[in-house]
Amino acid sequence: MTLSIHHIAQSDNLDRLLLIEKTESLEQLQLNQEALEFVQFQKTKLKKDFVVLNQFKGMTYVLFFDREMNLAKRLEWCRKQGAIVGRSANEYGISCLTLETKSEALNEVLALAEGIALANYQFLKYRKDADEKRNSLEKVEIQVAGLEPKTLEDLNTVIEANCWARDLVNEPLNKLSAVDLAEQISSKFRAVGGKAEVFNKRKIEALKMGGLLAVNKGSIDPPTFTILEWNPKNAKNTKAIVLVGKGVVYDTGGLSLKPSSGMDTMKCDMAGAATVAAAIYAVAKAALPLHVIALVPATDNRPDGNAYVPGDVISMFDGTSVEVLNTDAEGRLILADALAYAKKFEPELVFNFATLTGSASRAIGSQGIVAMEVKAAELFCKLADSGDAVHERVVKFPMWDEYREQLNSEIADLKNIGGPEAGAITAGKFLEHFTDYPFIHFDIAGPAFIEKRDSYRGIGGTGIGVRLMFHYLNEYAKS
Ligand code: BES
Ligand code: ZN
Ligand code: ZN
Repeated sequence: MTLSIHHIAQSDNLDRLLLIEKTESLEQLQLNQEALEFVQFQKTKLKKDFVVLNQFKGMTYVLFFDREMNLAKRLEWCRKQGAIVGRSANEYGISCLTLETKSEALNEVLALAEGIALANYQFLKYRKDADEKRNSLEKVEIQVAGLEPKTLEDLNTVIEANCWARDLVNEPLNKLSAVDLAEQISSKFRAVGGKAEVFNKRKIEALKMGGLLAVNKGSIDPPTFTILEWNPKNAKNTKAIVLVGKGVVYDTGGLSLKPSSGMDTMKCDMAGAATVAAAIYAVAKAALPLHVIALVPATDNRPDGNAYVPGDVISMFDGTSVEVLNTDAEGRLILADALAYAKKFEPELVFNFATLTGSASRAIGSQGIVAMEVKAAELFCKLADSGDAVHERVVKFPMWDEYREQLNSEIADLKNIGGPEAGAITAGKFLEHFTDYPFIHFDIAGPAFIEKRDSYRGIGGTGIGVRLMFHYLNEYAKS
């Protein structure tokens, strides 16, 4: 269960965190003399900004924030402190923690709560000792002035969606085939009032989605193509916003087989699919007045007697011929079909999420998202602001025409790999070929899956992009 955050006017809970701006008087904390002196000493002499007081009947945490820090940094600092507080609360077996502030710090308190909730995520379903391992913390109360119920509702929604995306990514192939993925994302989406349709292999064949079918050839499981749609009566946009997510439920590389060390985490190769499914789920649950569609092409990528081979020329959904020179560059093939399919909606804007290239991961690691933009320069600025606000930062890579030349094939319209340099960009250029609308592509190969805990992002799937998309779309709906 995802930790839930509640608003409370006055709590008598004895486990609490007091948030205070660091230049304000400690008197407002209303601590007894002894505790006050202790906090004073920790703050001024030891320069601590986080103080833990074991009051025996309960824990009191005091956190000093610095208003001088710029807003985005300050909120991220709060989320990270949330992860630290949460760890302590779990060590003390606390089930409910109350966050309190008398400073003007509504957004800081919300960020703290968010950090606690995101850090509290666990994936224990396959462990015998799950009950023993489960975090004690189940609930955070916030006692703060001026909180709108809808703000809190949306926060709970986006946290739930992020944790769901992490769950999907953490599921291994033997528990989550392309068919399972399609079923799970459509049933959860229907439960919040969304419309979902899943194309099976026969339908995909009838549509001649040659990219998806080629990648699927080596698989023992059929591919799926899922369409999720949220189109409320009060939608503000006349043309839909489309989200496309790479759903490679496992990437062995195919006949261009990956070495074991590069393969072991490849259950994460459907993280783009998880992101767009969770993002549109959050949009529906929050009832945003926007017409949004998500497209998820899904399959695994494996070698087999029938697998596609390097050198094959395949015919894509839009009729483009592609010379496949590396079967490990499979993501762009299934996405190309989805992107070409998206044209039929005449979309206002298309966002693509994919664990697409090792090149993106090598370029910036897991601290942000490599992004590319076509005909969407202005929008990109707003998106970058959303990225900073939720700390899912985006960095724009160039899409200069010259990169396209690397994809020229002797015998087909395109080949599926470029040269040894600028791999994230040539992958982006490949995708661009299948678009005719404003397009933003996110290569999340770096941040989608991490092998070491990083504050409120635990080991495994991170759900990167869900908070970014929800923030962006929420702002868009308001504007
Ligand atoms: N799924 C991988 C990319 C990836 C790498 C995701 C690391 C997450 C972490 C993708 O399908 C792939 O294998 N890309 C190749 C492309 C190359 C053959 C042109 C790559 O990046 O090496
Ligand atoms: Zn691959
Ligand atoms: Zn892949």
